Amino acid sequence: MVNINDIRKDFPILNRKIKGKDLVYFDNGATTQKPQQVIDAISKYYSDENSNIHRGVHTLSQEATTKYEDARVTIQKFIGAQHSHEIIFTSGTTGGINLVASSFGKKFLNEGDEILISAMEHHSNIVPWQMICEEKGAQLKVIPINQEGELIIEEFDKLLTSKTKLVAINHISNTLGTINPIESIIEKAHKNNSLVLIDAAQSVAHTPINVQQLDVDFLVFSGHKMFAPTGVGILYGKEDLLNSLPPYQGGGDMIKEVTFEKTTYNCLPHKLEAGTPNIAGGIGLGEAVKYIQKIGFDFIQQQEDLLLEYGTQQLSTIEGVKIIGTAKEKTSVISFVIDGIHPFDVGTLIDQLGIAVRTGHHCTQPLMTFFEIPGTIRASFSFYNTKEEIDIFIQALKRALKMLI
Ligand code: ALA
Repeated sequence: MVNINDIRKDFPILNRKIKGKDLVYFDNGATTQKPQQVIDAISKYYSDENSNIHRGVHTLSQEATTKYEDARVTIQKFIGAQHSHEIIFTSGTTGGINLVASSFGKKFLNEGDEILISAMEHHSNIVPWQMICEEKGAQLKVIPINQEGELIIEEFDKLLTSKTKLVAINHISNTLGTINPIESIIEKAHKNNSLVLIDAAQSVAHTPINVQQLDVDFLVFSGHKMFAPTGVGILYGKEDLLNSLPPYQGGGDMIKEVTFEKTTYNCLPHKLEAGTPNIAGGIGLGEAVKYIQKIGFDFIQQQEDLLLEYGTQQLSTIEGVKIIGTAKEKTSVISFVIDGIHPFDVGTLIDQLGIAVRTGHHCTQPLMTFFEIPGTIRASFSFYNTKEEIDIFIQALKRALKMLI
């Protein structure tokens, strides 16, 4: 039986005081906190096992290689991939999307082809596609959304044509919390012979994902939004597809044989992992997966749903608050604006009371344009947050508003 008080003890930073107040950390959409188990795994690697991987016959190198490759298998099983070599370590979600946009785009994208994204994408799922489309003379098309922040599926159906090479879409919107119907999107795209990349940055810590059940072609996520360190992430790709991609970067580890005349490339996953990777990060990510599995998605979803419901209800009692993102299928992110008040002012004032929220455009400027707002205040919850923290947040908001109005 998982207990919230015990869980909170796993995260040392939750004991921090900010400006003399207990930290209330509601910025989990930006990055999650790290449990001691993950911190210990990273510390043990550097204090006990530090060595380069895939390169040495000596004991330390063998040990580090085993740990890193074990982490790959842990992640493979966590997302239900068929093979561990379908798990490519990257620097994060952005790194994974850039890899696919660049490698897939260079080989398979032609003039007149189309890439389909949605109006609620993070900049990292917009800009890499814009760059490759520009290079190849392809077109970027955008699935529109409604005022609730849901995809307009009839428009998606119309935009999916014989020109659509790939659909790149987030599972959960970082700004709105909308959960997109990725199962039916993948099914429709495949019927249309289009590939699908899912940006799972905001979903992988909140909901179970099985890439084989989804039949998704590519899926990317970051370690740091799932209790692991920054600077590490995952690209999952179906074996055949990854094999068909040209290398993204050249360097060590990704080669089979190098001569000045010609280089041949290593097999998966190494072909797509040039250079010394973030070894401690990879080990930390494997440990974070084990931590999530220990807590279990049943508890995670139950706690986060409770926080979403309570937070939404409490916020709605404050005059002038408008929630941006009211999709029927939604996760524990609440973005809102307050009449006549700039989000930065609220964020700055409640920071004085120990509360961490994100304010601004959340790397989704086109979404801000759609809603005709400069930015939002975003409270994003994780399973270690509590209703009591929401009460503190609401009180702090009320105090801030008294000062600002
Ligand atoms: N993408 C991260 C966020 O939503 C940084 O805050």
